[in-house]
Amino acid sequence: MLEMSHVTYAYKLRRRQKKTALTDVSLQCEPGIFYTIFGPSGSGKTTCLSLMGGLDQPEQGEIRIDGKRIGEIGENKLRRGYVAYIFQDYQLFTYMTAVENVMAALQIAEPRTKRHDLKKRAEEILFSLGLDAREIERRVTRLSGGQMQRVAVARALAVDARYILADEPTGNLDSAATDVMIGLLRELVEKWNKCVVVVTHSLRVRDASDVSFMFSDGKLEETVQMQTAGRAGGKG
Ligand SMILES: Nc1ncnc2c1ncn2[C@@H]1O[C@H](COP(=O)(O)OP(=O)(O)OP(=O)(O)O)[C@@H](O)[C@H]1O
Ligand SMILES: [Mg+2]
Repeated sequence: MLEMSHVTYAYKLRRRQKKTALTDVSLQCEPGIFYTIFGPSGSGKTTCLSLMGGLDQPEQGEIRIDGKRIGEIGENKLRRGYVAYIFQDYQLFTYMTAVENVMAALQIAEPRTKRHDLKKRAEEILFSLGLDAREIERRVTRLSGGQMQRVAVARALAVDARYILADEPTGNLDSAATDVMIGLLRELVEKWNKCVVVVTHSLRVRDASDVSFMFSDGKLEETVQMQTAGRAGGKG
């Protein structure tokens, strides 16, 4: 379980001034469940997600993953086995092909695995996400937005993290591509038992999640159990 307790965060501005972005946020996320963080622009969604991913530390309160404080786990271990973070702009290596991008992520998790085996695994992950043999050998800058997004998801899968955090992963997609991404996210939850947390503006994405955290003005206003009857998950 990923657990935030009474987390408050402020960005430091010039001359000891601060901008409070999150106030006393407590929430819990479990594997096998798809969460969305929803709310207006500036309500603290990205700030919340980046604290959950250990990209920054809270000013007050604490964040635990499987019972351990994020700070205790340490950066390397956090990146290898716990949390994968998908940035809105994907942050892929633009000079590499799709398969090389996934290999690079795999290599972080398994520095001793041979190149040949890394490549095979990277290919398998990309194929499972619906890219074909020619697409995976193409430089990522020559893929479509939706294909790049799948490479970003493949990188998250490669590190085998239980918690997958994504900031607006459908931000640049049309509704058909959004549905494909929703399918992928649900698959991560249902087939791979991941805990997926997605920041989104999209009602479509929110409606496809199991639980939605509604943010407003830096506060968690409401935790909504979405209508998920009949889905494989249904836990919690
Ligand atoms: N680096 C920063 N320095 C100062 N203030 C910041 C910084 N980043 C964000 N903020 C402020 O903190 C608040 C929360 O920002 P955050 O990025 O978490 O919002 P958001 O909900 O993700 O918004 P959006 O939907 O527009 O991405 C906003 O008022 C924002 O202006
Ligand atoms: Mg944001």
